[in-house]
Amino acid sequence: MIKIKTEEEIVAMRRAGRVTADVLQVVCAAVIAGISTGELDKMVGEELRLRGARSACLGYGGSKCPFPANACISVNDEVVHGIPSDGRTVCDGDIVSIDLVAIVDGFMGDSTITVAVGEVDDEVAKLLKVTEEALHAGIAAARSGNRIGDISAAIEKKAVDAGLGVVRELVGHGIGREMHEEPPIPNWGPEKSGPLLVPGMTLAIEPMFMLGREELIFCDDGWTVLTADGRPAAHFEHTILVTKNDPEVLTAPEKCFRRQVTCVKDCG
Ligand code: MF3
Ligand code: CO
Repeated sequence: MIKIKTEEEIVAMRRAGRVTADVLQVVCAAVIAGISTGELDKMVGEELRLRGARSACLGYGGSKCPFPANACISVNDEVVHGIPSDGRTVCDGDIVSIDLVAIVDGFMGDSTITVAVGEVDDEVAKLLKVTEEALHAGIAAARSGNRIGDISAAIEKKAVDAGLGVVRELVGHGIGREMHEEPPIPNWGPEKSGPLLVPGMTLAIEPMFMLGREELIFCDDGWTVLTADGRPAAHFEHTILVTKNDPEVLTAPEKCFRRQVTCVKDCG
């Protein structure tokens, strides 16, 4: 069942989204050659704590294989769910996806940005640009009266037009008190299919594209997902609210943040 959030729940989701976005901006701005993904992860924990929030990722997955860090930090061919480590230092030319889920008063915000470290190859820069554009195309399709498939198709079209691979095994999702609620939101599929969108739905839309072949490796650590051919992958994600009018991006970066990491065009 897809939960329709009440007005109070929406207020709480806005708070969680605000914290998620602010922490993500701070941590993404700290990504420079020489920093380790472990250090970035500690920063996520600290910045959440300063805002009265905590990570929903830490311990996620239950006792069998709990996620051991505050955020998923995935470098280059790591598609998603990379485990931060003090030994993993990032270099010029790398791309780093930081995926975090903040809990504030029991509600969650989920957002991801992939940042470039220094100069990256042109094709990698294009991968980042197109994946972020696909996120915005997906969000634009998240309108009351449309269906989940309209989001999926809008995202897939961006990849196909740019000659990029789509991650087909992993999906976006509803979000609220739980990190993963109904419905699943694939990054591919036919338009006008799937559940109808209605105001009050809160959704995490998250395109993951790759430069190479559409094949993944699921690692033995229980978490890390790699591209099979070792080529890079990018991931962008926002938590949004479906409204009567335009979708509201609950994890949008503050317009005048010290250093806007993405969406340069929106911040004037
Ligand atoms: N944020 C990811 C998602 O979009 C999942 C995080 S997995 C966790 O679903 F283990 F880190 F929680
Ligand atoms: Co998500």
